Amino acid sequence: MSLAAIPQTDPSASYREHQAEIDAAIARVLAGGQYILGREVEAFEVAFATWLGVAHAVGVGSGTDALELAVRACDIGSGDLVYTVSHTAVATVAAIERAGATPVLVDIEKDGFAMDPNALEAALRQSPPGRPAAVIPVHLYGEPADMDAILPLARRHGLRVIEDCAQSHGAAAPAGLTGTFGDIACFSFYPTKNLGALGDAGMTATRDPGLATTLREIREYGWRERYISARVGINTRLAPMQAAVLAEKLPHLAADNARRQTIAAVYDDGLAGLPLALPPRRPGCTHVFHQYVVRAGDRDGLRAHLGAAGIGTGIHYPSPVHAQPAYRGRLAEFPAGLPRTTQMAAQILSLPMYPQLGVAAARRVIEATRRFFI
Ligand SMILES: Cc1ncc(COP(=O)(O)O)c(C=O)c1O
Repeated sequence: MSLAAIPQTDPSASYREHQAEIDAAIARVLAGGQYILGREVEAFEVAFATWLGVAHAVGVGSGTDALELAVRACDIGSGDLVYTVSHTAVATVAAIERAGATPVLVDIEKDGFAMDPNALEAALRQSPPGRPAAVIPVHLYGEPADMDAILPLARRHGLRVIEDCAQSHGAAAPAGLTGTFGDIACFSFYPTKNLGALGDAGMTATRDPGLATTLREIREYGWRERYISARVGINTRLAPMQAAVLAEKLPHLAADNARRQTIAAVYDDGLAGLPLALPPRRPGCTHVFHQYVVRAGDRDGLRAHLGAAGIGTGIHYPSPVHAQPAYRGRLAEFPAGLPRTTQMAAQILSLPMYPQLGVAAARRVIEATRRFFI
């Protein structure tokens, strides 16, 4: 008997699980005739802000746009420095540049995936020319960055804090959910995310009413009143159809995250003792396992072996941003070369992870992984 292939992720499984509600929501939007902003978007913004526990959520076209708008809403642009990591989706860095600001890249923690607060501090001491303006910690793979250390540093240096929550819907530190610590939180609803749309979609969230108003203006040409731009803006509105789908899926997020955590615990148990580094957990924090990322010396060998066994894997991400052709040699790095970031990219492997994967499939992944090391 041949076993079915196991994909690394499968957003269509989530659609199938909630197909009746999603189809009805889409049909409602189609029949309603409002295809830009309006009731569906407003309702989802309220639901999302309530879920997060902040006053305002402003829906946008993607996570990348959310980050760009956040930077711009904080009045950060040309001549301003924005500190972030290179071990992230390119979107984090691209958004800073799209806002006209200058990214400053700092290394990640020893044996961790997120910004090293010590590297941030060093970068703030020896910054390149420009005004230190903001820090964008990325809660990568579903694990909160070290906000306990980053927030006081940001306060001391007068930096705005913009949280990249694209991979951390529902992840929490002892002090609260990711997305509630900074000035603005930015979420992606890319279909594979913990809360995923059926296309591109994103959200900004903030407690600050002034920032919320600015975000609303910038997402729609800078309009304060229709057709009159009070400031320079762009067009990046959350689509009503995506808002309706997301509103159906939001109530299932906690259960989906719990299923991800169960699969992660099965992986932890089954992979223990192998020459692999398993995902670290920040003490006291809730990890929501957007990805389950192991580190292996022979990562490419393990990946090929799993692929031959019908098991899909991913690499998030194969090249740090600073080493990609569009960025190489032109971004400030602290320390030069970002040694931990560079080493990490060569070792990481994302195992199959999505709520509908199931424990039996996770056990097959474990068995195939164990066979590689025999
Ligand atoms: C960490 C991170 N930041 C930003 C983004 C950008 O989100 P989007 O693809 O919705 O533009 C993503 C997702 O791709 C991401 O994983």
